[in-house]
Amino acid sequence: MPLLEAAGVRAGYGGAEILHGVDLAVDPGEIVTIIGPNGSGKSTMMKAIVGIVPAAAGVIRFDGRSIEKLPADRRIPLGLCYVPQTENIFPTLAVAENLEMGGFLRKSGLKSRAAEIYAMFPDLEEKRKAKAGSLSGGQRQMLALARALMLDPKLLILDEPSAGLSPAYVEVVFQKIREINASGVAVLMVEQNAKWALNLSDRGYVIATGETRMTGPGPELASDPQIGRLYLGETDA
Ligand SMILES: Nc1ncnc2c1ncn2[C@@H]1O[C@H](COP(=O)(O)OP(=O)(O)OP(=O)(O)O)[C@@H](O)[C@H]1O
Ligand SMILES: [Mg+2]
Repeated sequence: MPLLEAAGVRAGYGGAEILHGVDLAVDPGEIVTIIGPNGSGKSTMMKAIVGIVPAAAGVIRFDGRSIEKLPADRRIPLGLCYVPQTENIFPTLAVAENLEMGGFLRKSGLKSRAAEIYAMFPDLEEKRKAKAGSLSGGQRQMLALARALMLDPKLLILDEPSAGLSPAYVEVVFQKIREINASGVAVLMVEQNAKWALNLSDRGYVIATGETRMTGPGPELASDPQIGRLYLGETDA
């Protein structure tokens, strides 16, 4: 049974429909990457999954139950954590305070979870008293991941986790995503570093103009010449 299954999802802003019936699924333990042109509705789909944008039609099932009618704050405790592309940390708070905020829904075990997180992110432990706003772009992205993990999610939803990072740091972030996944957390992400992300993904989806256009094993999509031409800016050589 898929961990996340969305079918026929329609959503938009005001009267404008952006998603015209998107289908996607994530199995337990998978890394799944969504690629597609700018403005095609990738972020909107993530927002529909987490409940920030209401689904006007379609079904979204998570861990065996329908969630499309639940408000966002009732979806998170089910094990769904979302890291938006921007404004995903509190810059005026210390690193440690950011983690506490991330874990605010926990009924217990805040300290022990923070210790586990610091073991995974030793750089953050060193900077635990520093203001999050003083971190480098890459470290901020790590903090955003760490914050989301404070709630022990079953599925981590990441909107362009490598955006704006230097190539060296893109690699570091992707390596961390692999580690998180290896610890048992499924990952659904949108990525502009499409080839790179697809190559480390179990499966991928292409979303264009608000519709699911293609799906398949990540590395297969990464090397598909049609996808390269249409969506990765490659030319026939
Ligand atoms: N808050 C909003 N209000 C109105 N329209 C919006 C809003 N957010 C996004 N849109 C519009 O919805 C469409 C899809 O946007 P979305 O952010 O989902 O695309 P995307 O695939 O994530 O693009 P990108 O690759 O640039 O991040 C765009 O036309 C965008 O202008
Ligand atoms: Mg987007």
